[in-house]
Amino acid sequence: MSDETLSNLLTENRTFAPPADLAADANVKADAYAAAAADHEGFWAEQAGRLDWAEPFTQVLDDTAAPFYKWFVGGKLNVAHNCVDRHVAAGRGDQVAIHFVGEPGDTRSITYSDLKDEVSRAANAIEELGIVAGDRVAIYMPMIPEAVVAMLACARVGATHTVVFGGFSADALASRIEDCNAKLVITADGGYRRGAPSALKPAVDAALEKIDNATTAIVENVLVVRRTGQDVAWNTDVDVWWHEVVDESSTDHRAQAFDAEHPLFVMYSSGTTGKPKGILHTTAGYLVGTAYTHHAVFDLKPETDVYWCTADVGWITGHSYIVYGPLANGVTQVLYEGTPDTPHKGRWWEIIQDYKVTLFYTAPTAIRTFMKWGRSIPDEYDLSSLRLLGSVGEPINPEAYMWYREVIGGDRCPIVDTWWQTETGMMMISPLPGVTAGKPGSAMTALPGVGADVVSEDGVPVPNGSGGYLVLTKPWPSMLRTLLGDDERFVDTYWSKYKEQGWYFAGDGAKKDDDGAIWLLGRVDDVMNVSGHRLSTTEIESALVSHPRVAEAAVVGAADETTGQAVVAYVILREGASAGATGEELVQELRNHVAKEIGAIAKPRSIMLVPELPKTRSGKIMRRLLKDVAENRTVGDTTTLADAGVMALIAEGQKTSTED
Ligand code: PRX
Repeated sequence: MSDETLSNLLTENRTFAPPADLAADANVKADAYAAAAADHEGFWAEQAGRLDWAEPFTQVLDDTAAPFYKWFVGGKLNVAHNCVDRHVAAGRGDQVAIHFVGEPGDTRSITYSDLKDEVSRAANAIEELGIVAGDRVAIYMPMIPEAVVAMLACARVGATHTVVFGGFSADALASRIEDCNAKLVITADGGYRRGAPSALKPAVDAALEKIDNATTAIVENVLVVRRTGQDVAWNTDVDVWWHEVVDESSTDHRAQAFDAEHPLFVMYSSGTTGKPKGILHTTAGYLVGTAYTHHAVFDLKPETDVYWCTADVGWITGHSYIVYGPLANGVTQVLYEGTPDTPHKGRWWEIIQDYKVTLFYTAPTAIRTFMKWGRSIPDEYDLSSLRLLGSVGEPINPEAYMWYREVIGGDRCPIVDTWWQTETGMMMISPLPGVTAGKPGSAMTALPGVGADVVSEDGVPVPNGSGGYLVLTKPWPSMLRTLLGDDERFVDTYWSKYKEQGWYFAGDGAKKDDDGAIWLLGRVDDVMNVSGHRLSTTEIESALVSHPRVAEAAVVGAADETTGQAVVAYVILREGASAGATGEELVQELRNHVAKEIGAIAKPRSIMLVPELPKTRSGKIMRRLLKDVAENRTVGDTTTLADAGVMALIAEGQKTSTED
């Protein structure tokens, strides 16, 4: 085992076949895999037929300058036309595109006709402010419809947007504005979070001060939506109210077609270390990839489904599966501004009940939080409208999957565990809900038209039952095209490890189970080496979460004199979980539980019970910081943490943790 690139410890035998009615009427059936395998380019050319093209492409894939691939060469289209106008032209203007739910309880239902008018007005307004195709626009907004409108308006005029998550600081915003040379910033006075207005405009002001905009004048205008009505400082040279310019603009706007490879947006990676990477996505391939996968994986029936993705538009999930993929498919969707516990912990389930949501997409971190709060909360709501559940962002532990399936999905909804990245733009590995018999915790297989494998350090595909590195073996339409301004880093990061084979290195560990299904095992950087065994964080965390008292767990490898590294775990208990062992006794019970579930090699040296874990603002656990604590170092950079106080609490508590 110690020769393996990555150990395979956890075994899971439960499977859930697709519901018969869903399978019978599924958008994508099993034959898609064979069709795509037989003719990769032909398959994607066919998917390109989902879009309206102003000019047809002459070549599907140009790989002559690989890894700088080009898709749909020679084709031209307008993204906003495809996401909005064409649905109106097809007679679906009265269909609701967005059911907006503000945190304070205000609601708006926006039809495709409304959306077309609003995007056209916004497009006219930003053109009036001097924005032309090729310019960059930074968007720093709460989760309100204007955020979607702003993105589509940029796409409509060919300006490249970079959406900066509203929870990021002025410094983060400044570095992104500077890196991409944004000419315009679109923001709001603030948004509502946790029951109170949370200001945004002051951070824009601070960012402009930081980049010394007064002299450099990178940013010519700041377009400000009034959402909360808070007082804002106003610089009349630069600041413009949205309601003054957008509302006054014409609803007539002619959408010009752009080249297939025209830059659509830059998304700075939520990376936990180093300079953020400006991941560049382009026009046609991105839209084809997101539209197809949204259609296939969510089985969207646009006339009857109500879809809700809980991500923020500031992340790639919000770009691909709130804005571009779903709207290209003519979705009706919910957009919620606030947090899941405001004004009460049943808010999400209430929204599902009120809007009769059928397709629901969220992250494991949220699911584990709800597990911690207990099932009595969702049990109070009618969730019978749901027919499919999705998960993204991290490996979903088998236990969290089972909870999601039973408590939220009423044991009837299939779960699609979708593996992908900011870089991939679209889902890559996921069950097809009408085809795949899902296993709790596995993303299963590469989607039709996607090539994925698990390989050893030197590039040999591992046999079933073994672990290694995840690679993508074929180009795909929504792949990142480069890192903005840094082609070399693009090649080094993703394409140099398996250069000879021409594979994309995803940076994730994975394994194939005995049936060849793929299980994600966490970032390669987090792999631990215990007595020569390379252990993934995911499997040990899942073993901990499978204990009935545990809601969430994080493990790290800490330096150890005898074993090289030792497993150190941090655990959050479920609230009000049934009585049992406490303190030291419970810790021993959990250590033994891990040993029993996956083997003595993985038994944690120590376990600390904590109230919270350090997470990025997108919900990923920052194991690097826990490693600092476990190795008695001063805790490193915590600026990307959602809650900076968490680490102080854990560092303090570490002193009283158990060891033997
Ligand atoms: O480690 C994988 C994990 O999230 C990484 C990508 O993060 P980001 O670019 O922020 O995009 C998140 C939304 C797509 C991956 O390299 N990841 C994402 N989805 C899954 C996952 N790990 C396991 N299972 C998933 N379904």
